Amino acid sequence: MTYEEFYMEQARLAEKLKKEKQVVKLLLLEKSGMTATELYINYRKKIPVEVRKKTLAALDEYFHHNKPVQYLLGYTYFYGLKLLVRPGVLIPRPETELLVEKVLENIVGRKTPRILDLGTGSGAIALAIKKNRGDALLTATDISALALGVARKNAAMHGLDVEFIESNLFASIPGKYDVLVSNPPYVSRDENIDPLVSENEPEEALYAGEGGLSFYREILSRAREVLFDSNLIALEIPENKDEELSAIVKNYFPESEFAILKDLNNLSRILIIRNDWRI
Ligand SMILES: C[S@@+](CC[C@H](N)C(=O)[O-])C[C@H]1O[C@@H](n2cnc3c(N)ncnc32)[C@H](O)[C@@H]1O
Repeated sequence: MTYEEFYMEQARLAEKLKKEKQVVKLLLLEKSGMTATELYINYRKKIPVEVRKKTLAALDEYFHHNKPVQYLLGYTYFYGLKLLVRPGVLIPRPETELLVEKVLENIVGRKTPRILDLGTGSGAIALAIKKNRGDALLTATDISALALGVARKNAAMHGLDVEFIESNLFASIPGKYDVLVSNPPYVSRDENIDPLVSENEPEEALYAGEGGLSFYREILSRAREVLFDSNLIALEIPENKDEELSAIVKNYFPESEFAILKDLNNLSRILIIRNDWRI
């Protein structure tokens, strides 16, 4: 069987199962170790048995076991960076890129800002900020040693200098920061989410108590401990809890200026709190 025949056969199957045809190509490229150009050149050649077997095994997981393609590929892209991901580590989402954008916007003019990324997962937010602001000093934490292992690999892969610390929220965080950024878990236990997510991604990265808001209360009640007086807090938030979140902010930061920003779909996505923040 040639690469072409194999691809056509699997692409037809994808169509029949209402799955993405593009995934067949991506997995074939990944498992064969070829670039798209190399695949094109070799299209009419025989596909090696090993490549066929490996691609079929991954496709079986995708077609029949509802596995996210990012875990099967072992990587995804975030803010233009290729990042390794694996089961046990949250797949960074395109929505979270807005959080990076807002932090970058707000630190223009601040030299060597000290930034803490709480619950870094794959390292996505910290690495994207560091990539775009080489002078920023980044510390990224997570409760999951597995996630930190992946985040460290991602930092090394891109030659980005980020300090990684295993910490349950603020328990082991040294020093003080100008910026606290976080995309904390915020799915409420009674929420019905896509089984692709609930069956595959780590529980501790998704769910939070108090209707999904417990991390906001915990973070905002203690944020001052790790922040300088002039500081910026930027958090990703659920799309439908503006009132409850505003009440939490007003409770812990009654004097502060804050805003809830919407994404391109006009859904609430980012909470920004500025405390005497000058840029
Ligand atoms: C929604 S994920 C975000 C991951 C990454 N920042 C991103 O945006 O792709 C939340 C992360 O918080 C971590 N986490 C959960 N509970 C934590 C805790 N108590 N302390 C520190 N990190 C925690 C999870 O392991 C997970 O990596």
